[in-house]
Amino acid sequence: MLVGNNDNYREGELLQRLLGPVTGGGLLASEGERWRTQRHRVEPAFHPDRVAEYAGTMVEYTERAIADWEDGDVVDVHGEMMALTLEIVADALFDVDLRRTAADVGPAMDAVMARSESVLHDYLPRWVPTPLNRRYGRAVETLDGVVADIIEARRDEGGDDAVSMLLRAEDEAGETMSDEAVRDEAMTLLLAGHEMTTLALTFTWHLLGRYPGVEATLQEELDGFDGPPGVADIPKLPYTDRVIRESMRLYPPVYALLRETIEPGVLGGYRLPGGATVTASQ
Ligand code: HEM
Repeated sequence: MLVGNNDNYREGELLQRLLGPVTGGGLLASEGERWRTQRHRVEPAFHPDRVAEYAGTMVEYTERAIADWEDGDVVDVHGEMMALTLEIVADALFDVDLRRTAADVGPAMDAVMARSESVLHDYLPRWVPTPLNRRYGRAVETLDGVVADIIEARRDEGGDDAVSMLLRAEDEAGETMSDEAVRDEAMTLLLAGHEMTTLALTFTWHLLGRYPGVEATLQEELDGFDGPPGVADIPKLPYTDRVIRESMRLYPPVYALLRETIEPGVLGGYRLPGGATVTASQ
C-alpha cells in the first residue's frame, strides 16, 4: 500500500472527510501535483541544519516548562506536553510565541480529536447539533483564529520561518498562494507538528512511571551530562533513544493509516475493488 504499489492508492474520501474541516487542503490530505508543490515549498523548514537549530528551542522551552515543578507535585502530563510541544512547534516553524494562546488550543484540539474518535460522527453530518459537533465547531473557530493571528504576524514581519516561506512562494505564473491555501498548510503543520509529539511523550512518561528500573537507567544516562544535552549529544543517548522507540512501538501516536484504492487490486492476498477504504494499523 505504501511502497510497492503505492500508485494505486490515494488518501481518499474518508481521510478528507475526517481532516478536511480542520486542515483543509494541507499536506496531510492533499495529493498529486498540489501535494508535490506544497511539499517542496515547506521542505526547507525541515532541512537537517534547521532541525538542529530547533533543538535549542526545544531545550529552552522544556527547561522553562519544568522550572516550577517540585518533587511530589502532581501534574497533568498530557496537558503539560500539549502546551510544551505547541509552543515549540510555533516558535520553531512560525517564529511566534504561543505561550498566551496555548491554553485555548489544548481544549480545542481535544474537541477535534474527540469527534474524530467517534465512529457515529464519522457518518453524521457536521450540521447535526450534537454536543460533540457543537464543541467541534467552536474548536475549529478557535484554531482558525490562532492560525489567522500567526499568518498576520508573519505577513507583517517576514522571516525565514515556514509560514513566511509559504507567503512568499510563487508559482510559474508569478502568483502567490491564496490565503486559504496558506491557512491550510499552517494549520496542518501546527496540528501534525504537536499532536504526535504530545502523545509520544505522554505515553513515554506513563510507561516510565510503570517501570522504575527503566526510569533509573534513563536517569543514569542523562546524569552523564553537565547541563541539558544538545543536538550533538544525540548519539550519546542510545538508551533514551530505545526508550522512546519502545514507547512508540507500544503506543504508536498515529496508530492507523487510511488510504483508498484507485483501481481494483490485491493486497495481502485479498482482492479489493476500486474506491475501497483501506485502514492499515502499524
Ligand atoms: C512522534 C512524532 C511524530 C509521529 C509519530 C508522526 C507520524 C506521522 C505519520 C504516520 C504520518 C503519515 C500519515 C499518512 O501518510 O497518512 C505523518 C505525516 C506528517 N507529519 Fe508527522 N509525525 C510526528 C511528528 C511530526 C512533527 C514534529 C511534524 C512537524 C513539525 C510533523 C508533520 C507532519 C506532516 C506535515 C505530515 C504530512 C506529510 C506529507 O503528506 O507530505 N509530524 N506523521
